[in-house]
Amino acid sequence: MPMSLCTLNSRPWKPDHPYSPVLPIDLTSPAFIADPYPAYRQLRQTGGPLYPLMPGLWLVTRYAPADALLRDARFGKDYLSSVARRYGPEQARHPLFATVNRFMLLMNPPAHTRLRALVSKAFGIKQAGELRQLARRACDRLIEDIYPTGRADLVAAFAYPLPVAVIAALLNVPLHEALSFQPQSQALVKVFELAPLSAADLQAAADAAEMFEAYFRPLLAERRRQPGQDLASLLLKAAEGEDRLSEDEIIANILLLFLAGHETTANMIGNALLALFQHPQQLALLRADWTLLPQAVNECLRYDSSVHLAARVALQDVVWEGVEVARGDTVYINLGAANRDPAVFSDAETFDILRPDAAPKPLSFGGGVHYCLGARLARIELETALAALLQRLPELQPEDLTSLRRRPTNTVRGLESLWVTWQT
Ligand code: HEM
Repeated sequence: MPMSLCTLNSRPWKPDHPYSPVLPIDLTSPAFIADPYPAYRQLRQTGGPLYPLMPGLWLVTRYAPADALLRDARFGKDYLSSVARRYGPEQARHPLFATVNRFMLLMNPPAHTRLRALVSKAFGIKQAGELRQLARRACDRLIEDIYPTGRADLVAAFAYPLPVAVIAALLNVPLHEALSFQPQSQALVKVFELAPLSAADLQAAADAAEMFEAYFRPLLAERRRQPGQDLASLLLKAAEGEDRLSEDEIIANILLLFLAGHETTANMIGNALLALFQHPQQLALLRADWTLLPQAVNECLRYDSSVHLAARVALQDVVWEGVEVARGDTVYINLGAANRDPAVFSDAETFDILRPDAAPKPLSFGGGVHYCLGARLARIELETALAALLQRLPELQPEDLTSLRRRPTNTVRGLESLWVTWQT
């Protein structure tokens, strides 16, 4: 049975409710997964600043309200309530959700401010040049492995292992172990999906969280005994002073860095390559002038980002552009739709790497206090990945752009595979 947004909340619409959704959206339909942008366009045009999905649940698809809402302190995080609403109060007490709820991503100030400051301190120590070298070395190794074959699935052979290699190096965990966690990583990030998980997916996410805790707990104990320059040791050091963090907080946030550090970037590398392959003239512009690389990456992030939704909960009753939002209501901010808002980006549906620098920033990394902590690293990885692949694999060609399969997810947007060939 197709799952629509209406399965998110068990409260029915009252017949006299002042707001009612104007568009039925089937989140799981193959057409929506393949290309959600026509539906986003309709929502932006017809939905107003806040689009009512159902009582207590709103969607923002335009740039200006999305940007403002991300920065508005009256909206924040209340993950466990949303879990209780979607899965029932019993499930909300599940250890899986307790672990996820310790991610800084799901906290509000002041607890968030304290945790983010400590993690940023540990995370910001590596200089951009050092990160670039790390990414370059990982790219070179991966390209060396695939080069003689002349053909590869770039998602499996490059886009996924590259950010895993970078975050594994930053955490100083063996690469083969980090790579072996792919099924668990993908199972766990599903907790951020809009539609509630099936019982089987929920169990897989819980098993994954348990496995990661069992992996990171002894690692942390080891780093306490023998600190190094890795992220876990730096975080332990940063948390030594008055701002102590509990072991559970540290483990959960190392896990967050591990997951956020590769799931998002891996999908973004795939989306960026696809956008360039689908627009050969733009690719030719980049090949002719590599100084366009940062601009091209920015446009890839805007045109088809790998994170399409961020969620906020009203922490108090709010009247937003004339619409009453009750305390506890959830607002989904559709970053993917905001990034193509024609009110802000001229020819918003066009992929244009020459877009002027003065154009507003895409919302792909969010905004406000939760602005992506890894944005700098992600841009470095994307730039390095595109340059290495396109420069080192002569006549790199996609095999078939007509039968591409997308991952069947709504929050994270990415490709299942991307087969390419090149001259050896
Ligand atoms: C292209 C790649 C990436 C994209 C599109 C992306 C996107 C995002 C977005 C939209 C948010 C904000 C979510 C919200 O407001 O609810 C976020 C937060 C976050 N990201 Fe990223 N991200 C990427 C890469 C990374 C990397 C490489 C890392 C770390 C290694 C990372 C770590 C984080 C963390 C820790 C947060 C939470 C920040 C906070 O709550 O204060 N991300 N990311």
